[in-house]
Amino acid sequence: MRGKRILLGITGGIAAYKIAFLIRLLKKQGAEVKCILTPSAVDFISPLIASTLSGNPVGIEFWNKDDGSWNNHVEYGLWADVFVIAPLTANTMSKMVNGSCDNLLLATYLSMKTKTIVAPAMDLDMYAHPSTKRNLAQLELDGVEVIPADSGELASGLEGEGRMAEPETILEAIELFTGKSNNDFLGTKVVITAGPTYEQLDPVRFIGNHSSGKMGFKIAQEFLDRGAKVTLVTGPTKLTLENDQLDLIKIRSAEQMLSVVQNVWSECDLGVFAAAVADYRPKNQATEKIKKKSDDLTIELVKNPDILNWAGEQKRDNQYLVGFALETENLKENATKKLIKKNLNMIVMNSLKDSGAGFGVDTNKISILDNRNNLQSFELKPKEAVAKDILDYLKTYIG
Ligand code: CTP
Repeated sequence: MRGKRILLGITGGIAAYKIAFLIRLLKKQGAEVKCILTPSAVDFISPLIASTLSGNPVGIEFWNKDDGSWNNHVEYGLWADVFVIAPLTANTMSKMVNGSCDNLLLATYLSMKTKTIVAPAMDLDMYAHPSTKRNLAQLELDGVEVIPADSGELASGLEGEGRMAEPETILEAIELFTGKSNNDFLGTKVVITAGPTYEQLDPVRFIGNHSSGKMGFKIAQEFLDRGAKVTLVTGPTKLTLENDQLDLIKIRSAEQMLSVVQNVWSECDLGVFAAAVADYRPKNQATEKIKKKSDDLTIELVKNPDILNWAGEQKRDNQYLVGFALETENLKENATKKLIKKNLNMIVMNSLKDSGAGFGVDTNKISILDNRNNLQSFELKPKEAVAKDILDYLKTYIG
């Protein structure tokens, strides 16, 4: 972290006092720290503590009343390597979502040139409220990294989710982001599949699954951060990703996904297939909406092409292929069979039986098995950290 410039935004929640420890941790690691407080944060942590520990003046208002100088939000945005808002209150969160800008911290968020990471903290019911969930989801769609709140004793005396993540956890997220600039996949061409496929039954219905695409998108982001050129072929998902080294191709069906992969695979060095491809599709696609008639309806399904299997058949010795195996039973045995059958270098296994792993959630618990018979298991982690583990493993494997 030596020389990294960390801008800390502190909002008015009781957890603000913990930010003193975060500043200490960051300074110990050699980072430069500047703090911006919202006017209400001043009730929870003194600006003197923040300025003494960070070694820099603290920004609160747009104008410094003493000397009339201006706290320039644009300059803060240009200075920071990363903007970390912790604790993030429900109030500031909703203003960020709406693009409001009635204080220095919010104006700086809107001017930010780099990543914003937030650590929300609020009371149990506030954290569980649908509007909070909606705002957090929107922030993620806007490209903000959210460090989920912890469970435990809350300042109100209630027990449950809402505590700000510990300073050590926030430090890890900052280290993960700032440490990514090593470009160890510079120039590598990667194709990634992500999300579900939708197999059309008639003009209004399809067969699909619950895949959110999060794991594949996090892997794409990690490759881009490390210098790769990425083709991301994704089924329907709410996620977005923008990067000048990214070709984002949106498809719906397995056959469309296969056709994109067939176009690009021979030019790629690596393939990571994280899509939850529907194994079957309706044999016939009705051109008009199917009307209800008898009590029973039988839909004939036919097998979809196995995209990963196709890529494995075509794979040259200088290409590397990673598949995923989501199982509900006999995880290792089934994954080993897939690794061999599909001619993979590595298979990332996760079990739907592990809580916090699998579809829709922000965390995953994986094990990696490679075709040299090595097996490594990892802890339950945010999908961003899981993506880093997969790329680190791949880098060591390729050598
Ligand atoms: N996969 C694919 N095309 C398919 C099916 C799967 O590319 N038609 C890829 C997935 O993206 C994943 C891997 O194959 O990387 C494993 O998928 P999974 O559905 O778990 O395995 P299957 O081989 O389909 O076996 P089964 O459904 O019987 O478990």
